[in-house]
Amino acid sequence: MNIKKSISKAIKLGIIPLLIVSSIYSNRVLADVEEQKAFKSACSACHNGGIRGFISGAPKIGSDKAWKGRMTKGFEQAIDDVLNGSENHISMKKEKGLDETSVRAGLNYIVEKTKTLQAIK
Ligand code: HEC
Repeated sequence: MNIKKSISKAIKLGIIPLLIVSSIYSNRVLADVEEQKAFKSACSACHNGGIRGFISGAPKIGSDKAWKGRMTKGFEQAIDDVLNGSENHISMKKEKGLDETSVRAGLNYIVEKTKTLQAIK
């Protein structure tokens, strides 16, 4: 094999995995940004621990104490409760016109930031 060929092979071998890894990584980063946006626009008013959170009693994002014993029926059930309403939650679809994608993204963000909930997902 001549030297030019082997250099170009080495470059390809290095670059292709690098491209794959970086595209997976950047997709994950983009997903994080989307989830954070969804949380901020749809959930943070109550779940960020501000005055509205305090008044409504909504568990604060990131607080293991506040989320302990919640979402015990699992992630998918929680999506359904938040989207369509339950005894624990107003319907974000009816009250705020949200769709499943944004509720799911918002809840993904809450779970990602809250240790206790990571076991549930
Ligand atoms: C208008 C205020 C408000 C908004 C906006 C809101 N929530 Fe809540 N949420 C609450 C309150 C209050 C509770 C606690 C209810 C209770 O303990 O009875 C709660 C509880 C929850 C729970 C736990 C339910 C359980 O099983 O105990 C989940 C999950 C949840 N919210 C997810 C979300 C997500 C995801 C969003 C955004 C898409 C969101 N919430 C937006 C007020 C809100």
